[in-house]
Amino acid sequence: MSKTNPEAIAEHISEKSPATINALVQNDTLAAADNPVLQGNFAPVNKELTLENFAVVGHVPEALNGTLLRDGPNPVDPQANHHWFNGDGMLHAIKFENGRVSGYRNRWLRTEALAKKTGLQAASVKGTKQLVQGTGNVNVIAHGDKILALPELGLPYEVDLALATKGLFDYSGRLKGSMTAHPKIDPETGEMLFFGYEMVPPFVNFHCVNSRGELTRSVPIELPKSIMMHDFGVTATRVIFMDLPVVFDFQLVEQGVGMPFAWDDKHQARLGIMDRDSTSGDVTWIDIEPCYVFHPMNSYDDDDNIIMDVVRYEKTFTRPEDKYERSAQLIRWTINVAAGTVDSTLLCDVDQEFPRINPAYECYPYRYGYVVEVGGAHGFKGLLKVDHAAGSTEVHAVGIDKAASEPIFVAAGVAASPASAQGEDAGFILTVVYDAVTHLSELHIIDAQNFTAEAVAIIKLGARIPFGFHGNFVPA
Ligand SMILES: [Fe+2]
Repeated sequence: MSKTNPEAIAEHISEKSPATINALVQNDTLAAADNPVLQGNFAPVNKELTLENFAVVGHVPEALNGTLLRDGPNPVDPQANHHWFNGDGMLHAIKFENGRVSGYRNRWLRTEALAKKTGLQAASVKGTKQLVQGTGNVNVIAHGDKILALPELGLPYEVDLALATKGLFDYSGRLKGSMTAHPKIDPETGEMLFFGYEMVPPFVNFHCVNSRGELTRSVPIELPKSIMMHDFGVTATRVIFMDLPVVFDFQLVEQGVGMPFAWDDKHQARLGIMDRDSTSGDVTWIDIEPCYVFHPMNSYDDDDNIIMDVVRYEKTFTRPEDKYERSAQLIRWTINVAAGTVDSTLLCDVDQEFPRINPAYECYPYRYGYVVEVGGAHGFKGLLKVDHAAGSTEVHAVGIDKAASEPIFVAAGVAASPASAQGEDAGFILTVVYDAVTHLSELHIIDAQNFTAEAVAIIKLGARIPFGFHGNFVPA
């Protein structure tokens, strides 16, 4: 076991930052701004780094070969009223090779918006793609032979493992609108299912991409108005859309509000269930109690019912205060489509966000979920492992004055069959942890089967990764 030595870390940092962008970005003074999402580890970083040789506490598992990719907002020119969800997209890559972490780098996505602000060259944009550009700041996924940085609204950007932006990506012209940041990849079929929401009717479109990465089907989903639909549920046979009372408000656009969405008491909350292979967009809608959900943990078929586990807020985007709602709990929706009912059961009452599972169980019955505990001095605390079979929750503490981020599960064998005999939780949780004392980030690797124990490895990155949203591990 090597010992942590901050001086040794600094010694080994080889910074090969592109001088151009680093000279253009000067936002060190932002910490003084009276805005919680410009302070602490919410504050953007102002450099693109390429680092190698890291101090490590513990032992990096040999099974981890590949790259952990993460995405988040990192505004070049944040304003005092900056909203966390906005801001130029920045990607982070941590590379694993044969029992060691061999590199870290971060890069802004080369969007046209970034180019206008910095004078840098934007990635190529052609034809109608110009109509639907987003920030690409929410999630980064691999499917087919593509790596895509995903937005809340707009087209994805294709990138590579070195984090170069290749350009806006529209499935050979077949995708004409937005792509959610939360597509679902069916581990059995290799298909990727997603939707996109818009400001104009039909407001939502559903899309299916086959395992070869070809967009094969698009279906309009008609809603009464434009809403914020951040995520959805997919089972082996059905799709669940969440029509919840956070609605697009044009008046807020006119007022210059960065996130022009607001809670609307008059908007009926409901779930929409559609056959996964639908070509008609025929949806069965079931009313539910008002709430908001950014993220389901997972969804699956259970005989005649659909189980959908979600992190549920009572309300969010309430105006005019629009505070950052931090209280959300894990609940289970049991959806009976024939009866038109949704039963709600509390699974875990700890405030939480960013639920993830072993991706081999996505869309199918599962036992374990992993999630960040919300709260504390730095915005987030440690991690939770929820065991649905036992009805219990374990806590992994990341340390005093430290804050975890989204827990990403990587199977122990990585390339091994999903439902391997090793079990659903045979693998590692990767989480980027902020150290408030050093104001730097670490990567913690946790044995998912020994969840409450200390991390098997802590890699001192020698850089800070601001709190972002989502990411995924791409095996080598
Ligand atoms: Fe999300």
